[in-house]
Amino acid sequence: MPWRETRDPYAVLVSEVMLQQTQVSRVLGKYGGFIEAFPSLDALAAAPLAAVLEQWRGLGYDRRALNLKRTAELVSASYGGRLPSDPAVLAGMPGIGPATAAAVATYAFGAFAPFIETNVRAVFLHHCFPDADRVPDRELMPLVEAAWDRDDPREWGYALMDYGSELKRTMPNPSRRSTHHREQSWFEGSRRQKRAGILRDVLARPGGTAAEYARSCGVEPATARELLGELEAEGFLAREGERYSVVG
Ligand code: ADE
Repeated sequence: MPWRETRDPYAVLVSEVMLQQTQVSRVLGKYGGFIEAFPSLDALAAAPLAAVLEQWRGLGYDRRALNLKRTAELVSASYGGRLPSDPAVLAGMPGIGPATAAAVATYAFGAFAPFIETNVRAVFLHHCFPDADRVPDRELMPLVEAAWDRDDPREWGYALMDYGSELKRTMPNPSRRSTHHREQSWFEGSRRQKRAGILRDVLARPGGTAAEYARSCGVEPATARELLGELEAEGFLAREGERYSVVG
């Protein structure tokens, strides 16, 4: 995994955001190209959103790309292009929750910042709660903190994640017994798929109207209007009169 060969905080952040909701095998196919296209926070901050979304294609959950770019803009404008190492500061940035912030502090800065993500959860559910059914992270966290190696927090984190993913591969996923476990919703035919399709279409053919995108995407005009409105409100799209384009 190339993101384990670097301590560049930006590269680690990109990998962690990609890994939030996308499996390792798919991230492996996209990570290198993304870093090559946008080699630094300043480069990502300066890039047009359309180019960022183009590189993100195939990873899904496009809001992550928008948030990553917003974080890059914030760090570029207010932190001299250098990602802060404090997880509490990181966790206040767009698209960075407590677990991602702690993972960046651990893997980029070698900090002791225990966190729970799906693989870590699997390990502690398997060993500490073998018979429990609905376990919240708040019950796991003291154990995760007590076990985390203080001498080499980074290596420990990688080992935990590898062990967790091995457990998931070889037995029914222990994480299903967590109150925080969420199956990803089915993509084919979903609203999420229609939304991604419309965004792709605006990228490919900017300046269209809701009626035009409804036709080209094969969705109901009312659905197209709703999804375009949502994408505009979130900051993906700009509208001039009736016509939409990707911002920037
Ligand atoms: N391997 C699997 N998930 C990972 C993550 N979030 N960070 C580093 N390595 C990983």
